[in-house]
Amino acid sequence: MSRANVIAIWDQWIRLFHWSLVIAIAVLLITGETGVGFYDWHRLAGEWVLGLVVFRLLWGLAGSSNAKVAALVRPLKAFDHLKQLARGRVEPERGHNAAGGFAVLIMLLLIGIQAVSGSFIADEDELIEGAFYGVLSSDTTDWLYTVHTTNAVLLEVMIAIHIFAVMVYLLYAKHNLITAMITGKMPWPEGRAVPEIKLQPFGRGLLVACVVAVALVLILR
Ligand code: HEM
Repeated sequence: MSRANVIAIWDQWIRLFHWSLVIAIAVLLITGETGVGFYDWHRLAGEWVLGLVVFRLLWGLAGSSNAKVAALVRPLKAFDHLKQLARGRVEPERGHNAAGGFAVLIMLLLIGIQAVSGSFIADEDELIEGAFYGVLSSDTTDWLYTVHTTNAVLLEVMIAIHIFAVMVYLLYAKHNLITAMITGKMPWPEGRAVPEIKLQPFGRGLLVACVVAVALVLILR
């Protein structure tokens, strides 16, 4: 890329969502492996993640245009994009590229399954219980326990692929997606038409976040 203008790409809520998800999942992975003393944190971080996923799905309907669920599902373009990436020459995009969008959907699905299954189970010694533990039959609860532990592995694999992909963009395709996810801005090649996107104001996201927070507190407590 020769000379470049700097343009806005991600709204504040996508960035807040992403980095608080990273922190919460790190807490979940550590506390999920390390036992009793931290199980309270595990439940709290799990409920936080559940709120984040619900928020993200609503933001995928009412949020900025490049956060919309429809913008994430472009299966045919995903293959074209991967071919470009293999050649190390990807076009800059003002949003997720088609392959990345698909990966985001899979990650959100796995994270959602993890958070929901966790709400219905307890650890083996029943020292910490999900908000709805005991509501379902013991067979279904056992099945959800298996789902929770198996899905955790799938999620870890998906997160590893995600971080690996971001590094491939950085080191091989020379696209720094990380800075854009932190600052919300990206360099755009001069002279090239800038795609129109509509970034929603902070207040709209705050409203959605408050609705999700109140609903979850009422349901989970
Ligand atoms: C627990 C670990 C992580 C999870 C669960 C995760 C999840 C996600 C999700 C769901 C998105 C989509 C954002 C959205 O549209 O709402 C995303 C995007 C992104 N993540 Fe992560 N992430 C993780 C760790 C990281 C790390 C460590 C980095 C930096 C090295 C990173 C860099 C990015 C970037 C750059 C994007 C935007 C990609 C693009 O431009 O299409 N992520 N991540």
